[in-house]
Amino acid sequence: MSKNVNIDWANLGFDYIKTDLRYISRWKDGKWDEGQLVEDNMLTISEASTALHYGQQCFEGLKAYRTKEGKIQLFRPDRNANRMIDTCRRILMPEVSVEKFIDACIQVVKANEHFVPPYETGATLYLRPFVIGVGSNIGVKPAPEYIFSVFCIPVGPYFKGGMVPVNFNISEYDRAAPYGTGAAKVGGNYAGSLYPHELAAKKGFADCVYLDPATHTKIEEVGAANFFGITKDNKFVTPKSPSILPSVTKYSLLHIAKEYLKMEVEERDVFIDNLDEFKEAGACGTAAVITPIGGIEYKDKLHVFHSETEVGPVTKELYNTLYGIQRGDVEAPEGWIVEVK
Ligand SMILES: Cc1ncc(COP(=O)(O)O)c(C=O)c1O
Repeated sequence: MSKNVNIDWANLGFDYIKTDLRYISRWKDGKWDEGQLVEDNMLTISEASTALHYGQQCFEGLKAYRTKEGKIQLFRPDRNANRMIDTCRRILMPEVSVEKFIDACIQVVKANEHFVPPYETGATLYLRPFVIGVGSNIGVKPAPEYIFSVFCIPVGPYFKGGMVPVNFNISEYDRAAPYGTGAAKVGGNYAGSLYPHELAAKKGFADCVYLDPATHTKIEEVGAANFFGITKDNKFVTPKSPSILPSVTKYSLLHIAKEYLKMEVEERDVFIDNLDEFKEAGACGTAAVITPIGGIEYKDKLHVFHSETEVGPVTKELYNTLYGIQRGDVEAPEGWIVEVK
């Protein structure tokens, strides 16, 4: 590492820390500029920016991992780049090409290399790319200018004392409309989830499960993560719906379950009335990789899957394989790892 930073790696959480440099690129007159690394972590934008009034903005989240040998690698940044392209199209923002997105991430990681936690700590460097509509505009229409930026923060291992299952309840609120923006990573989806999350937390749940907005009979998301279940005959099952955010972790687990664990996999409806079909369940996403689901409260009854205190064996194996790939201990499928040199 080039510089020493005074960070207590063992006690990192998921909190903002100002790292040294961030990438910023501006779109004006139909094109993105070259982009540059800057020290200033403050943005000055017009009070009439569409990002502030009409939610014309989006974000991504991915991590850089340090391997046992001390190398640094990104996990499937092309998937995040392509998801951001899909999101930008949905809300009429200019696309950031896959190449520009990955180049920006690499520049930010390199410039903040000393913030990439050591392998042994289990901590990682979280990258937050985002696009916002700026410039002065008061009508409900796309912004005249945009900013694409990427910053990074070191974050702690999600499970400090090892993986622990947590419980969820069912939200009576929806996070997305049937043909709305559920599959896009726009901030409005998250603003709408704050209140349901608070209601769940007040009742002692880690977060809530969102059902499909049209019929309220099928599982869509678990907080800000995708759902998966392991059926009693050992199939990996995850919901399919146009209003779910296509999770990079979920699609990676589908591949791992099939190709590494030799399981059958299914992307299909998961009915809330049929939780009994699963022997294990989990929530998956970049932050935790997998959060084992102890139980889901439905109709005033807690449905427990494997156990409220122990992680199921299939969940554990999925986690170990994916986390192993991400930090370079398990051989990755072709194209999943981008080394930061
Ligand atoms: C609503 C929602 N679902 C699922 C996920 C998991 O997606 P990923 O695995 O790409 O982090 C996230 C996190 O990005 C999310 O915000």
